[in-house]
Amino acid sequence: MKNTIILIIVCCFFTSCYYDKSELIYPTTTCDTANIKYSTTILPILNTNCNSCHGGTAIAGASIKLDTYASTLNYVKNNLLINSILQNGQASPMPKGGNKLATCDIKKIQTWINAGAPNN
Ligand code: HEC
Repeated sequence: MKNTIILIIVCCFFTSCYYDKSELIYPTTTCDTANIKYSTTILPILNTNCNSCHGGTAIAGASIKLDTYASTLNYVKNNLLINSILQNGQASPMPKGGNKLATCDIKKIQTWINAGAPNN
């Protein structure tokens, strides 16, 4: 019983931290778009937000793969990647069924694309 109470308290503690997104607490926080790389910036954003459907053997993403550079580049070139996350009506809005990506993540992807979407 005691352990259960401790567990509940610990859970509450961590779940409340989960919503402490810095962007919400400090709306003026600048978005750092320096040193953006495919491997350390873009792929992690896609893995977190997209690749449950668009990665590996996932079948929920209509065979669109965003877990390799080569495949992602196709959707950069046809503008579907940026249009889908901007949710501007020119592609299916993504992430499907989820919240729009954080403004800073969108900016990072935009910056990477504007730089020619390098494989770095
Ligand atoms: C819950 C599963 C799911 C998630 C998460 C998801 N997608 Fe999709 N995505 C789909 C499905 C299904 C389709 C194809 C059907 C459609 O267009 O709705 C699709 C289509 C797309 C397309 C093609 C759009 C078009 O108009 O042809 C792109 C690009 C895309 N997704 C990118 C992304 C990106 C980037 C993310 C993350 C920010 C993401 N998706 C997250 C399921 C998902």
